[in-house]
Amino acid sequence: MLTILNLEHLEGSARERLDPMLYDYIAGGAGDEWTLRESRAAWNRVQLLPRMLRGVANRELTTTVLGSPVSFPVLVPPMGFQGLCHADAEVATASATAAEGTIFCASTVSNTSLEAIAQANGAGPRWFQLYVYRDKSVTRGLVERAAAAGYSALCLTVDTPLAGNRERDRRNSLRMPAHLELANFPASHTAQHHHGSGPGSALAQYIAHQWDPGLTWDDVAWLQSISPMPVVVKGILAPEDAKLAVDHGAAGVIVSNHGGRQLDTVPAPVAMLPEVVDAVAGRCEVLVDGGIRRGIDVLKALALGARAVLVGRPVLWGLTLDGVDGVRAVLQHLRAELDLAMALSGCRTVADITRDLIL
Ligand code: LAC
Repeated sequence: MLTILNLEHLEGSARERLDPMLYDYIAGGAGDEWTLRESRAAWNRVQLLPRMLRGVANRELTTTVLGSPVSFPVLVPPMGFQGLCHADAEVATASATAAEGTIFCASTVSNTSLEAIAQANGAGPRWFQLYVYRDKSVTRGLVERAAAAGYSALCLTVDTPLAGNRERDRRNSLRMPAHLELANFPASHTAQHHHGSGPGSALAQYIAHQWDPGLTWDDVAWLQSISPMPVVVKGILAPEDAKLAVDHGAAGVIVSNHGGRQLDTVPAPVAMLPEVVDAVAGRCEVLVDGGIRRGIDVLKALALGARAVLVGRPVLWGLTLDGVDGVRAVLQHLRAELDLAMALSGCRTVADITRDLIL
């Protein structure tokens, strides 16, 4: 059983277990990693103003996200290549997330097929994260398979026309270990991750080769036209882009800088959250990720208008350390921290978490 004091501490333990190249891929950011650090630090600059004597004996953390009931407002975001962390890979994270009663978002670049993830996720709510391929038939195939496998939303990542300047991966000449496959694709895709096309990051080379950097807002409408699932646009920072997402039919937006892995020196998601919430003015749900390591961060995100948050790297550290049980332990830990934060701030339900909790 994984004992967790706090999520920040987990990273060091997981690091001891991981090949340095793989640890760097997961932990690293783009450029000087300013945004990576800032995304964490910015939560601590937001101060809470708690309320007293509101009767918090029986707290209720449940809510809904795009209509799906969740046991607490924390989702597991799309993260690729989970086989880097543990042999059970996405099967472990998807089943752990379902067991904890929240939404698992499967990455396009998973080491387990989206169908096998769906099976592991069982009755749990799940979303499929989509990267749009230059070959439109590949994209269409993924969307059709996701719909057939019971995914309830498509999460379109829009901040990755190319891979960010991840210097750790360039230095390490990142390659996917030989025992892993890119399970949603034919073997030729896997081979690109094993061998690369020269020095540097094989992932960056794959992205440049396969993903469509020509994507525009019109493609969001196109996606909607071929998808029976609602589309959530992930990777929004500018309030104007959030408006455009809604105008093009998005059911949700995720305020995100891709874990500081794309354009360095962009702001922390929490810095943009209030303006994005104001910009969409209730026309779609707003989620946020980036640097969330504490229950108080979740409380702040909801107070600032987020419907829910997504917590990434700590889930991978839990997966590394103890597979399915490790992921469950991470989610349970966050749930307990949020529960305490709600009690101490005078919130009995998620609906009680309002903007006046922020100083
Ligand atoms: C990454 C891509 C795969 O951040 O989303 O590595």
